[in-house]
Amino acid sequence: MSDLRDAALAVRENAHAPYSGFKVGAAIRAESGVVYRGCNVENVAYPEGTCAEAGAIAAMVAAGETRLTEAYVVAGSPAPVPPCGGCRQKLAEFGAGEVTVTLATVDGTERATTIADLLPGAFDAGFMA
Ligand code: THU
Repeated sequence: MSDLRDAALAVRENAHAPYSGFKVGAAIRAESGVVYRGCNVENVAYPEGTCAEAGAIAAMVAAGETRLTEAYVVAGSPAPVPPCGGCRQKLAEFGAGEVTVTLATVDGTERATTIADLLPGAFDAGFMA
């Protein structure tokens, strides 16, 4: 898991967050074992900004993978930052409920949770059967 932390911390340095000043890094391990990374990318048109988790997921899908087995999110906050609602739904699209999502501060405080705990009662494809 330290490889995920290292990857998330490194990509966080590249975050484009001039409006919030809040840099976030995310790293996800795909089924192949490859680690994909993403950072938040803000925009002067605020709603056009994207979250770190979304960037990591986009990198995984662009590389031809669609399943993630572990995720790590780090931010420069006093306490581990929970993913926004949209990112919870995005994680649930590509990871099983039991997948561990570790939320962390730059200082090293970590909180481990799961996709199911982050998104109880999730809407999934089963409802469209
Ligand atoms: N942000 C993320 O990238 N991931 C999260 O889990 C929480 C929030 C970003 C979005 C925005 O660029 C900044 O943090 C402040 O909301």
